[in-house]
Amino acid sequence: MQEIIRRLEEKRRAARAGGGQKRIDAQHAKGKLTARERLQILFDPGSFEEWDTFVEHDCNDFGMGENKIPGDGVVTGYGMVNGRITFAFSQDFTVFGGALSAAHARKICKIMEQAMKVGAPIIGLNDSGGARIQEGVASLGGYADVFQLNVLASGVVPQISMVMGPCAGGAVYSPAITDFIFMVRDSSYLFVTGPEVVKTVTHEEVTAEELGGAKTHTSRSGVADLAFENDVDALLMLRRFLGFLPLNNNEQAPVRATDDPPDRLEMSLDTLVPENPNLPYDIKEVIHKVVDEGDFFELQTDFAQNIVIGFGRLEGAPVGIVANQPMVLAGCLDIDSSTKAARFVRFCDAFNIPIVTFVDVPGFLPGTGQEFGGIIRHGAKLLYAYAEATIPKLTVITRKAYGGAYDVMSSKHLRGDANYAWPSAEIAVMGSKGAVEIIFRQDRNDPEKIQQRTDEYREKFANPFVAGAKGFIDDVIMPHDTRRQLCRDLRMLKTKTLENPRRKHGNIPL
Ligand code: HXC
Repeated sequence: MQEIIRRLEEKRRAARAGGGQKRIDAQHAKGKLTARERLQILFDPGSFEEWDTFVEHDCNDFGMGENKIPGDGVVTGYGMVNGRITFAFSQDFTVFGGALSAAHARKICKIMEQAMKVGAPIIGLNDSGGARIQEGVASLGGYADVFQLNVLASGVVPQISMVMGPCAGGAVYSPAITDFIFMVRDSSYLFVTGPEVVKTVTHEEVTAEELGGAKTHTSRSGVADLAFENDVDALLMLRRFLGFLPLNNNEQAPVRATDDPPDRLEMSLDTLVPENPNLPYDIKEVIHKVVDEGDFFELQTDFAQNIVIGFGRLEGAPVGIVANQPMVLAGCLDIDSSTKAARFVRFCDAFNIPIVTFVDVPGFLPGTGQEFGGIIRHGAKLLYAYAEATIPKLTVITRKAYGGAYDVMSSKHLRGDANYAWPSAEIAVMGSKGAVEIIFRQDRNDPEKIQQRTDEYREKFANPFVAGAKGFIDDVIMPHDTRRQLCRDLRMLKTKTLENPRRKHGNIPL
């Protein structure tokens, strides 16, 4: 007995030591924490329960039979994040570079299956050299098992990937399936093929950072949602972020106590929208002034900035916010903004988080770049996402709602629950000038007449009354009253039920 306990302790010590002090020092020298140090920050103190500490790989090739480290390069288990149960795996770069073996994959799969059974989020802290090269195809099988579970867990429990080191090759597809990808600046990268392969195949010279670093993925590819300064910052933000999410798709997101009165009036919003419809204003000002305590957790801040997405709270309850941003591309919808918002809307719908949409959209962005790039297919994603969503949907048109984009942006016609317009709203098929140039083409050489027609058109449509008369908007509200109105509606919508027709699944234009 004593001997068994002694051996157990020895193995536990070996697991904690990972790849040894030298490799731990090397990890620290890169500004990175170890797998266990990261878990200590992510979870409430003392709450993490480690599983499978003694798991070892079963590979005997290339001298691996004599090279076994308990835990096999990944720390898995569950604990509490702000008192709420959460599962996690944290890859240990000090052990075989965090490379994924069949045993390593089985550990990840075990906690994923358990998280689904109990209905709790799965957090992946990725820091890995990819497939365990010594194991070959066994490792590929392990990856596929993880991917399969990522897909089964999608829409059931929130899945978040925090990329804190390398993540390359097919390994990227596990984070890619999860709901959110966060990265750490200067120490993490994601790519399907690395710089060497790129050089051989396309003769492009590119560094790992340029190819798949945090800046690339948060501003260019849109693959990652946010990047953080360092490991500590990233994990603390992740704790904060989890506070907006329910534990699973059968629960509501947690309500937080707030001192911010639901009937708070925000008079400054009455003068925010400029008289001149061609002048921009910052839609984030509206968001910050409407949500509880101005606390808005924005996602994808540097990608497709013509649309803003993120989480806030109203009366303590999390809401997803989608808003056209007039400061960028005049708030037009384009390929990137459509896919960015569509995925967010679908996340909110899957996890019972109401959506508040602020609309100021002059239409879809014109041009060959957009048409050749498939704006039809990508724009349809956003339309599809809003149309299939059954969660409470609240819409506020602050200014322009033109053309197809009007329909797309959570309109009444897509089962919007409460659709409002500010007095500055213009709900029309297109801008007055463009409309007149088409329907009064015969007058195009008579500027005076064109101006007169434009004024007429503007008078008729550049207001909320026509849409109001048809019931397409439920009310015209004063901007200062927006928060109060939204809070009231969300209270009313607490018992909303709406179901889509039964089917295996829809066929969203991908
Ligand atoms: C086994 C690996 C490994 C791997 C790294 N190591 N990657 N062991 N399998 N894939 C080991 C190294 O041998 C080394 O061991 C330790 O981890 C640290 O690696 P270093 O190279 O010293 O670290 P660093 O200089 O920081 O470079 C990190 C790295 C590099 C960029 C990740 O190690 C690298 O390029 N690794 C190979 C990446 C790769 O090609 N992976 C397979 C991709 S294909 P010691 O004992 O010296 O400390 C793939 C397919 C997945 O992943 C498909 C899924 C469907």
